Amino acid sequence: MPDLFEIMQTCRSMRRLKPDPVPDELITRILEAGTSAPNGGNFQRWRFLVIKDRKIKEAVQVWYKRAFDETVGPRYLASEPPPGVSKERYLRQHEAVSYLTEHFHEAPVWIVACQEDGVAPNRASGASVYPAVQNMVLAARALGLGTTLTTRHLLYEKEAEAALGLPRGVHSYAILPIGYPMGKFGPTKRAPLAEIVYQDRWGEPYAG
Ligand SMILES: Cc1cc2nc3c(=O)[nH]c(=O)nc-3n(C[C@H](O)[C@H](O)[C@H](O)COP(=O)(O)O)c2cc1C
Repeated sequence: MPDLFEIMQTCRSMRRLKPDPVPDELITRILEAGTSAPNGGNFQRWRFLVIKDRKIKEAVQVWYKRAFDETVGPRYLASEPPPGVSKERYLRQHEAVSYLTEHFHEAPVWIVACQEDGVAPNRASGASVYPAVQNMVLAARALGLGTTLTTRHLLYEKEAEAALGLPRGVHSYAILPIGYPMGKFGPTKRAPLAEIVYQDRWGEPYAG
């Protein structure tokens, strides 16, 4: 198994997934990695919904696709590539995003990361569930499984959460579509540290 740094640095979003089933033991290992993550006060208000039922995935995909067709797709094409990413790579990513949109429900397993609302849900609420989400993304990578952290269904939050059957007082924060990847893992592309890390004073280069 690659070491942790290699796993992190080659954990690009894997949007093209095979429909082949994923053994439950691997999903359990991913969930265990998720629940090892830090969370506020260790209250563990997180809940994880494993979805294999095709009908449920299809019902959510409708909203995921609608958000792409109406908002995300056009915005993406009108935007400049992000820092550290060439135009060509950006367009390739758009194709992959579009592919995942069409095939979202075909990923054999989804893990939906949810959380019970606390007494006063606020903007920091996600901070108690996203560390678990990222642990699961890395665990999937370590096990040779592909996934992508997705939140786009939240553009149609009410409709998607109704399709997921979430009870009152519980909200979804991310959907991880998981499966064996068609392509190869590869390096993530980001701006160099020199452009984004400062030392002591904002804008002054980090000397490390
Ligand atoms: C908060 C968040 C939401 C995201 N939502 C989606 C999504 O709905 N669909 C998708 O295809 N990718 C989604 N992504 C993946 C990002 O697009 C991806 O991480 C980014 O473009 C960098 O690409 P890389 O992961 O391949 O390095 C999301 C990532 C984050 C952190």
